[in-house]
This record gives sequence, structure tokens and C-alpha cells, in this order.
Amino acid sequence: MKKETSTSRRTFIKTAALAGFGASLFGRSSALAAPAGDIRSKAGDISATRPRPAGQKPVHALTTAPLEKVRVGVIGVGGRGRSLLRDLLAIDFVEVTALCDIRQELVDRSLKSAQTARGISPKTYAGSENAWEKLVAQDDIDVVYIATPWEWHVPMAVKAMEQGKHAFVEVAAAVTIDECWRLVDTSERTQRHCAILENCCYGENELFVLNMAREGVFGELNHAECAYIHDLRSMLFKLGTEGDWRREYHKTIDGNLYPTHGLGPVCQYMDIGRGDQMKFLVSVSSPERGLSKWLREKKPNSGRHAGERYVCGDMNTSIIKTELGRTIMLQHDVISPRPYSRINALSGTEATFFGYPPQLAIDSPARYGLSAKSSHKWISPDDLVKMRERFTHPLWDRLKERAKASGHGGMDYVMSYRLLDCIRKGITPDMTVYDAALWSCIIELSAKSVETGSMPVAVPDFTRGDWKKIKSIPIATV
Ligand SMILES: NC(=O)c1ccc[n+]([C@@H]2O[C@H](COP(=O)([O-])OP(=O)(O)OC[C@H]3O[C@@H](n4cnc5c(N)ncnc54)[C@H](O)[C@@H]3O)[C@@H](O)[C@H]2O)c1
Repeated sequence: MKKETSTSRRTFIKTAALAGFGASLFGRSSALAAPAGDIRSKAGDISATRPRPAGQKPVHALTTAPLEKVRVGVIGVGGRGRSLLRDLLAIDFVEVTALCDIRQELVDRSLKSAQTARGISPKTYAGSENAWEKLVAQDDIDVVYIATPWEWHVPMAVKAMEQGKHAFVEVAAAVTIDECWRLVDTSERTQRHCAILENCCYGENELFVLNMAREGVFGELNHAECAYIHDLRSMLFKLGTEGDWRREYHKTIDGNLYPTHGLGPVCQYMDIGRGDQMKFLVSVSSPERGLSKWLREKKPNSGRHAGERYVCGDMNTSIIKTELGRTIMLQHDVISPRPYSRINALSGTEATFFGYPPQLAIDSPARYGLSAKSSHKWISPDDLVKMRERFTHPLWDRLKERAKASGHGGMDYVMSYRLLDCIRKGITPDMTVYDAALWSCIIELSAKSVETGSMPVAVPDFTRGDWKKIKSIPIATV
């Protein structure tokens, strides 16, 4: 297999940017997607489920030897990596043993944080795009955290697993479907976990809804709505941050560039990949207007980006249909002037929840001793408090005090604690490589649907049929 060098990664993204998304980034023609009636069987199509290569075994129930402490190496200590590192340093059974970034000054800063917080000096690697290869080869590491730009996620995760480490990858885990399959195949071949670091699955409200769904409050689940709506216009031009690389994708892909924050939690509510599975999606994009307008009017960074052309529609909306016939509406908008939202809505035969702000309507409020009379109004704030008292997720309940200082309202700490506690105990993390691949593959699938006039596009089954027998994630406790 061709060695993936930094040059080939750079060429990959540059070619994509120059040639336009359709023919280059995903390396395929613009042939129409499979019609809805014949949705899953086009061998060679991006949607095709690929046969499991010989020698690989499923990892949905992979258990590993329990550990006394979990040793973690972190690649990428930019904005996100530093925040993750703070949480890792606050977990007593975690030992950070290695740090890496291209930028020496960021590694030095993180080393100082480790020394101050825990009196430890992890090994450090910096100065080149390939310095991380030394980190994944280091012996005293159980888990590699990857918080680098998207183009690096898969090569780093693959190499980490090949070196015997579990790979915990930031969102989205992968950009293309080929990359998703590489993660799945490597995890199955090496029998190492590849978890997506989807912190939104561990938010207070998300865990609350998950717990209510498991306890039957919603009755039979039918529909969910979710999104990543976050005005990032300013950040997309901020030098020395995500802005340095994230804007590139707006030049090449017209679809959903960041599906997992909204989708992860609702997939857990609805047991997607665990008793149900995504079948196909359709996707539409609004015109691209806002980023061009921002560039034209603000002339960020003294006009140095003049002439850039963006193709990603300001708002992308996808509708996903599942094997059991249920539906998920998923949106992406990082451009429009509006408040942050992941929507986080769930409907069943007996209740509906909407986030932003959290609101709940219940068919039989009396069953829970609430003052509400019917489902035609959201229950009152007092009633919501009563429901929270009864259905707050035990994981949140146990960790919320310790999580207070952590990012994104505490969800980041809860995520790292829980995922690493799974590794400590040797049990399967809540999010496996199949979730990482499924939630991430929406990037290419949504773009494919948009490109083909919003034709339905089948979703590959990364579990290769195992979704029928994979069990729901447990109501985790620690
Ligand atoms: N889960 C969340 O809430 C959340 C929030 C922000 C970002 N993210 C994700 O985290 C990742 C990083 O985002 P960010 O905001 O920190 O970006 P960033 O640009 O601030 O940081 C990325 C870091 O990676 C380093 N890097 C790049 N290539 C490298 C290489 N080959 N070897 C070692 N280091 C390398 C850069 O020098 C930089 O310091 C992205 O995948 C992003 O989507 C997730």
C-alpha cells in the first residue's frame, strides 16, 4: 500500500480545492444516485456495503484487558486539543504520556500545563508534519487522542491502531466514504477501538433525553431533528486557528460538512446501528451567499483571501430514512447570523422534546405527576424540573460536579471520563468505529445527493448486517 506522506495529504486537499468537489475530492463521477426502490445494491457505488476482508472480525462487542490506569498520547494541541488535554489531566486514572503538534510553541505550552496540573512530563514531538508517527510508535500509550485538521484524522487513526493503540478521533472522524471504510477495516483487522470523540452525546440534555427514551417516556420513537447551526464566519478567517484549514472545505464541498454533533445523540436515542440502520438520505442546499458576502465586505486579514470562491450552501438540509421507516432531519449552517443550535428534537408516540431551549410535551402528564393538562402545550419549567429530577442520566448525575470546569457545559469531561473508563474496564466504548463511520459518511452522501439534484442516496452499512443483532448502548454509570 502506498505510504501516506504529508505531501500526499497536502496534494489531496489542494487538488480537491482546485478541481472542485464533485470530480476530485471523492474521486467519482456525477452519475445519478440509486433510485429509492433499489437503494442498497450498487457494487462500486459509494453507497455499496463492502464485503468484510478475510482475517477481520467485528468490533461491536470487542473487549480488552482491564487496565489500572489509561495512558494517553495527544496529537494536535491547537484549540480543541488543549481543551481535551485539560480534561485528561483532571481524570485521576489517566496518565498523559505524550504530546505532539507541528507547532513547537503549542507543545511547550501543553507540556507546561501537564507539569503544573500533575507534575508529569510527557514525551513531546513537534516540528514536522510527520512527527506524530513517533508518538504512535511510543510504547507506553494505550489510547491516542487525535485533534488535528480533518485531513489528518484517518492516517493518524489508522497508524495508531496498527501500532496497537486505540484511536479516539475528533469530529468528523473522516471526510470521505473511502476513509470511513479504512477506519472500519483497520479497527476490525487490528482489534483496536476507534471511537469518535462526539462530546455532544454526553451533554446534560442529550443524556436526559437518552434516559427518557430508554425509560419509555417517548413511547415508540418515530422522528428526530438535529443540526449544527453555529455562526462561524469570523472564526473561518481567524489565523492560527481552525480558520487556517476549515474554510478550504467550503470551497470544494456543497453538503453537510459537520454532521456528527447533531446526529450522534439522535442516533443513540433511536438505536441507529443497533436494531435500526440508516437506509437512504436526500439532501438539499440553499445557495452560497453569506461567506462570500463576509469576504467581500469585511476583507478579513487585510484582504489576503480576496478571490476565494465558496460552493457550500449556507444551509444544508438532509432527511434520512431508516430501515424501520423512521426519519431524521439534519441541518448544517455555519454561516447565517443566528444563535447556536443543535435542535436536538425527538418525537415518539407519547412525547416530543425540542432543545434550544429545552421543551417537552407529553401525552399523559398525569402519569409523571405533572401539572400540564395535555400535549398541546410544552410542559412548564417546574414540570421540566420534575422530569429532570426523575430522568437525569446517572452518568451526568455522578460526574456533573467534576465536569463543571470543563468545556461545552461539562460534556467534554463526561465524554473523556466515560470513554476512557470503558478502556480501563476493558468494555466496549459507547461509540464504536461503526458509529464513527456512519455519522461521518453523511459528509460525502449529502454532497452526492445535492450534486445529483437531491436524488436519494443509499447509506452504506458499515456493520455489514450486524446492526440487526448489535445491542443498545447501556445506561452507563461510573
Ligand atoms: N468536539 C468539539 O466540540 C470540537 C470543537 C472544536 C474542534 N473540534 C475538532 O477538533 C479538531 C481540531 O480542531 P481545532 O479547532 O483544534 O483546530 P486547530 O487548527 O486550532 O488545531 C489543530 C492543531 O493540529 C495541529 N496539526 C496540524 N497538522 C498536524 C500534524 N500533521 N501533526 C501534528 N499536529 C498537527 C496544528 O498545528 C494545530 O495546532 C478538528 O477535527 C475539529 O473538527 C471538535
